[in-house]
Amino acid sequence: MSGKLITFEGPEGSGKSTQIRLLAEKLGARGIDVSVTREPGGTATGEAIRNILQHDAVNEPLSMRAELLLFAASRAQLVEQVIQPTLDRGEWVLCDRFIDSTMAYQGFARGMNIAALDRINEFAIGGRTPDLTILLDLDIEQGFERVRCRYAEAGGAADRFECEARDFHHRVREGYHQLAAREPERFRIVDAASCIENVADDIWNHVQVML
Ligand code: TMP
Repeated sequence: MSGKLITFEGPEGSGKSTQIRLLAEKLGARGIDVSVTREPGGTATGEAIRNILQHDAVNEPLSMRAELLLFAASRAQLVEQVIQPTLDRGEWVLCDRFIDSTMAYQGFARGMNIAALDRINEFAIGGRTPDLTILLDLDIEQGFERVRCRYAEAGGAADRFECEARDFHHRVREGYHQLAAREPERFRIVDAASCIENVADDIWNHVQVML
């Protein structure tokens, strides 16, 4: 039997990677084999693409179309090489960002054509839509405060997206809400402002019904 694909979406600092780790532990404790992956990335090709996407080359801002197609290329490689084979083995896949990030960031925030993005996403994933998408919803300022603390503790510097104006990120958040309204059967919106344990409990309530 095919495994389940659960994707995690949300604005910057919404706690996706922490929650993915906690959910993977819970599923593992129930005897479910789980693979965790991320976008862009998750394959050697995807990680190389991630590097291109995170910082502009010297004196060469990445064009919007190139950005979009690089995300799509990373996604196509990930689905074909990792996600589909893993699901075929009956394992579950938890993916940090997926098709909805393209819709929220390139579509709603950058203003690219939504119908065109739907087709590009469809081409990249070959019809393997997520079984469930957890949208970790968080106030943009709160998210950036968390990102700031993360860099203060662990080092690192803001990437191209984190450097975008706050308006851009407000459009990302609003875009996610529109996507969730468009497909309420696939999306679950979780309030990411509560403590880690509460957020994990909310997510677990949504996932438990799939067991
Ligand atoms: P993250 O993995 O640290 O969240 O960084 C990935 C960044 O790339 C994040 O700012 C969201 C952005 N992104 C897009 O703009 N479009 C996409 O399709 C994906 C997967 C990510």
